[in-house]
Amino acid sequence: MPGNSFGTLFRITTWGESHGESVGVVIDGCPPGMPLDESDIQEMLNRRKPGGSAASTTRKEKDRAMIMSGVFKGKTTGTPIMIMVKNTDVHSESYEKYADVFRPGHGDITYQAKYGIRDWRGGGRASARETVARVAAGAVAKAVLDRENIAVSSCTVELGGIKAVRMNPESVSKNAFFCPDMKAALKMGKLVKEVKKKGDSIGGIVEIEARGVPAGLGEPVFDKLDADIAKGLMSIGAVKGVEIGAGFSAAGITGSENNDPITPEGFLTNKAGGILAGISNGDVISIRVAVKPIPSIETEQNTIDISGKQRTISVKGRHDVSAIPRINVVCEAMVSLVIADHLLRQRAITR
Ligand SMILES: Cc1cc2nc3c(=O)[nH]c(=O)nc-3n(C[C@H](O)[C@H](O)[C@H](O)COP(=O)(O)O)c2cc1C
Repeated sequence: MPGNSFGTLFRITTWGESHGESVGVVIDGCPPGMPLDESDIQEMLNRRKPGGSAASTTRKEKDRAMIMSGVFKGKTTGTPIMIMVKNTDVHSESYEKYADVFRPGHGDITYQAKYGIRDWRGGGRASARETVARVAAGAVAKAVLDRENIAVSSCTVELGGIKAVRMNPESVSKNAFFCPDMKAALKMGKLVKEVKKKGDSIGGIVEIEARGVPAGLGEPVFDKLDADIAKGLMSIGAVKGVEIGAGFSAAGITGSENNDPITPEGFLTNKAGGILAGISNGDVISIRVAVKPIPSIETEQNTIDISGKQRTISVKGRHDVSAIPRINVVCEAMVSLVIADHLLRQRAITR
């Protein structure tokens, strides 16, 4: 079965390739009567666009969202919402030299193995361009969550090994890396410039939080809330790990350290990250995502061509030095989609 759809009641299907005519999404199951405007979607898409930081590509992606269906007089109608974004500033000719070689760290070799044919222009369907569709859908999911006072946010807690130490949420919007620690953000800026000069790339960690999520969301046993969040986030290119709450650090502490004590006022700590037995517990849902370094690097690497012959490759072009910070809003979108879907699923069994 093809895997281009995600969600059960709030269901999205994305389509399009990096250098095709356009990319987009069809959202099925969005509640009717909800105010929705192209500007709501545009605001999120603008956060994904290149150019916000030194870590981002110099490609100019206009990314203007066009609502093609499902909205009438500024309100959702309950019918499928289709959002389309045209691909502009496309330079396919710069990919011709990679048409018959596999770029290390990319899906070229696996797409070839799977389909026996691939659109090599800009990475085709495996390109981060596909995340435009997720972000557009995530903006609609966010509008669903807004009505319930659920807020999903994200920030950069590590880039190229530089960690945010002093956490000030107000700093997130004040630097290009969306880092809660201004001092760390300055160091990140310097590092990105050095890495770029060397023709290399870096990865990092993004933290996502969902506040105001009511207790009870999640469908044991296979559609647990944490399982669906992990699936949604792992489906983003370059994401290599997902932690909920204490995550991997829970493996090294005792039960008495890891359990969150319960009081009539609520949980005293949040090692669970807001989810117990796959169901939200009403506390803040906290998630961390490990992002790998960008695979397209100028540093020369060994590879093979389509006939299996040894080659070397240096990937030149307009690439991000890191998927962070552009990936942050994509993570927010995926978490918003999962929570909106589970909100509707919970309503289906309780109302
Ligand atoms: C927001 C975002 C931006 C990205 N930018 C680039 C880029 O400019 N160049 C590149 O080679 N990979 C980029 N990537 C990563 C690749 O799309 C991804 O690593 C590749 O498709 C292989 O998939 P995998 O890392 O999941 O194995 C980006 C990913 C995201 C989510």
